[in-house]
Amino acid sequence: MDARISISSEQRSTEEALIATVEASFADCADPRMMQLMQSLVKHLHAFVRDVRLTEAEWDKAIEFLTAVGHITDDRRQEFILLSDVLGVSMQTINVNNQCVDDATEATVFGPFFVNDAPEISNGGDIAGGAPGQPCWVEGTVRDTAGKPVPGARIEVWEADEDGFYDVQYPNDRAAGRGHVFAGPEGRYSFWGLTPTPYPIPHDGPVGKMLEATGRSPMRASHLHFMVTAPGLRTLVTHIFVAGDELLKSDTVFGVKRSLIKDFVEQPAGTPTPDGRNLVGRTWTRTRFDIVLAPEIPR
Ligand code: BEZ
Ligand code: FE
Repeated sequence: MDARISISSEQRSTEEALIATVEASFADCADPRMMQLMQSLVKHLHAFVRDVRLTEAEWDKAIEFLTAVGHITDDRRQEFILLSDVLGVSMQTINVNNQCVDDATEATVFGPFFVNDAPEISNGGDIAGGAPGQPCWVEGTVRDTAGKPVPGARIEVWEADEDGFYDVQYPNDRAAGRGHVFAGPEGRYSFWGLTPTPYPIPHDGPVGKMLEATGRSPMRASHLHFMVTAPGLRTLVTHIFVAGDELLKSDTVFGVKRSLIKDFVEQPAGTPTPDGRNLVGRTWTRTRFDIVLAPEIPR
């Protein structure tokens, strides 16, 4: 149904006068940025209400939905971030704040499963910590946009196991599928992880209901998370994705960027591993991710 009904000029004036009055109510705000944020928010919210000619019943439903989002949110579950993620707002905020600088690696969503103080592993070590999945050798370099290696860069990685769960989704406190490694002298790093597999975002709450009601899938494309930090360089929060994954086109949080899609090349059982690890008859994969950090933006 086309919501663009025609309205009388008197009706239009009433609606526009209200917007002007609400915008003006923030005119004495002492903080100019706060004033800009509130006035722009009002303008865009009112534009939405008028665009769809929002009914009172629909607005009640929206309030009910936001109330449910609040009720399910606690220290462990952040349904508001999930809502921002599935509406693409998280990704758009990342785009706005991480403009491309030369060949710097692109950023993507952080997600809710990062944990501080994940174990340190040596270069070439294993982050799996017993999590089930196909072993995956990940290697690359960390450089700045001038091509200079960044030895000592801290590379945090985290991922779901082959059943699609992060360690924090299990009842025990074991760290598995996460860790950090420091780039070596030439900026080189490597580690054993797991070949990423697809999994759904938490969809047993109001956001999941909204996805279902709108015919959307809760699935994320297979990925491996990275956060890379080094003094004087912009912190990079990103993932790498698996080339050929059919979910690349429909990642439910819109996190996929073409530059982040990598080949994860499957190695037949018995193929010698880069570090001599004996995988006793198992297949494994290998991938390469060369990371380029942008200069820090002075704020
Ligand atoms: C994740 O990749 O872990 C994630 C990102 C956004 C929402 C839920 C999960
Ligand atoms: Fe994830």
